[in-house]
Amino acid sequence: MFVTMDPARGQEAVGGTPGNRCCWLIAAILCQLALACAADGPPGAAIASAHPLATRAGLETLQNGGNAFDAAVTVSAALAVVEPYSSGIGGGGFWLLHRASDGRQIMVDGREKAPGAAYRRLYLDEHDNVREGASLEGALAAGIPGLAAGLGHLATNFGRLPIGKSLAPAVRLAREGFPVTQGYRDMAGWRLKALQKHPETARLYLANNALPEFGHPIIQEDLGNLLEQIGMNGPGYFYQGQFAQRLVEGVRAGGGIWSLEDLRNYVVAERAPIVTEYRGIRVVSAPPPSSGGIVLVQALEILEHEDLAGIDHITRMHIVIEAMRRAYRDRAVYLGDPDFVEVPTDRLLAPDYLAGLALTIDPKRATPSAELGDTPGLSLRGESTTHFSIMDTDGNRVAGTLSINLPFGAAFVPPGTGVLLNDEMDDFSIKPNTPNAYGLVGDHANSVAANKRPLSSMTPTFVETEDRIGILGTPGGSRIISMVLLGVLDFGDGHGPESWVKVRRYHHQYLPDEVQFEPHGLVAYEQEELRRLGHTLKQTSYSYGDMHAVMWDRKNNQIFAAADPRGEGKAALLPDP
Ligand code: DON
Repeated sequence: MFVTMDPARGQEAVGGTPGNRCCWLIAAILCQLALACAADGPPGAAIASAHPLATRAGLETLQNGGNAFDAAVTVSAALAVVEPYSSGIGGGGFWLLHRASDGRQIMVDGREKAPGAAYRRLYLDEHDNVREGASLEGALAAGIPGLAAGLGHLATNFGRLPIGKSLAPAVRLAREGFPVTQGYRDMAGWRLKALQKHPETARLYLANNALPEFGHPIIQEDLGNLLEQIGMNGPGYFYQGQFAQRLVEGVRAGGGIWSLEDLRNYVVAERAPIVTEYRGIRVVSAPPPSSGGIVLVQALEILEHEDLAGIDHITRMHIVIEAMRRAYRDRAVYLGDPDFVEVPTDRLLAPDYLAGLALTIDPKRATPSAELGDTPGLSLRGESTTHFSIMDTDGNRVAGTLSINLPFGAAFVPPGTGVLLNDEMDDFSIKPNTPNAYGLVGDHANSVAANKRPLSSMTPTFVETEDRIGILGTPGGSRIISMVLLGVLDFGDGHGPESWVKVRRYHHQYLPDEVQFEPHGLVAYEQEELRRLGHTLKQTSYSYGDMHAVMWDRKNNQIFAAADPRGEGKAALLPDP
């Protein structure tokens, strides 16, 4: 299924007159009444997001009569304000939706698109060398943002409230400011040089050109005005007219290649999710242009051929790593924007193909990635991001993973716009066999092209059984998919979201050929045993991921939400138990 949505039409449909706002209000009250009578929803609503202020803003929208989709608009916009290092109006993302009234499940694809003037060798010099940093910092690194169009699409097609009402908490947060936390300081410290280089960015996100102190208020007046205007006029305000003109001028003055046409032509896509049945669990996840769902499902299907419950702990770990290795290999070779390349989804998910891959796993020895065969064309042919999970009392669900790529994205704000640009262009394979910021390699399927979406790893996911419904996802670049895989396996072991978000994390992405693990991700004897099986291990200097998850236990009629203890997020229930 593929439907496109024109942000300009969203503008008309969403803006609303006072008259139809009144209708909205009546509709909202009626829906609340219907909701109170509905017997088959969860006993409460739940939100888990990466920032307490965003979670609180989402609760406010639910209390105002909004559904999970309205709350998703609020939480997305609030995160764009209070986590400027993770996502934003200058970025994009994916919202995986489940609508309770008809069971419809789709993914709203608000991923950035390459500008129309982009081309395959955009980030290479005349000798075919990668232009250092060109896809990571400054206006040239930015794709055409999809967040505003995505929010408009959610509000118009799935929400109950006018978009302005759902955006109001974010407008307030932008104007009143939010206090700098440890997480903010870590992220800003990581990109300090880039932030200092661009005066408008430094003005907004630093204090006297230095790392702001704890509690220092970050006020984003222009962003507040922009969100308010989108609330009044719809997302067309962002993509057309004077504001778009100002954005394009700022981008071009900063060395970028956006045009007014790029903004005007940006469209959200609705895409059918990737769905599988794994040991009685229905897994619903992100389709291309995310690699998340396909890689996740491939790994799960490979694991379905193994007796995970009957083998010892180390062999299980080894086999999970081998499944990751094989699934990530296919990512590098075959996955890209489905509007541009033919992604062989059916073949990649075919039972015989995955059974074949499972057969190549040796339970007693790591398979060197090089032994998996050449990746056609890979040879010489030529913690940022955020996730939230929401369920309302009707059982509507949203798994939203949003990004501007590296912390603070391109570190560039076209003056006077309040739009911190993404550096999502680095998610393309800018040169075959050349790793991107996450060490991922790729080739033709994910090469740079005009108007194409860069391949993502974002993996917003639902897990469903007769008794339990889970929502999960996380940031973490290439490691997103392996984190979600470990979370799904933990769900399969009967645990709840408190456990999924805490799972010790290890990861293999085919290349580099090593098992990465966070501090304490593998204890000493696990490391020793995995080395004995032939794995090369590499501990990261930091713990990674920031998973936020919700679960409805239908059997016991309970709802749970959990925030990753590694981050600063907040999980909350409504009513508050
Ligand atoms: O879409 C992607 O796969 C990346 N832009 C996500 C980046 C990310 O998760 C960074 N987080 N730590």
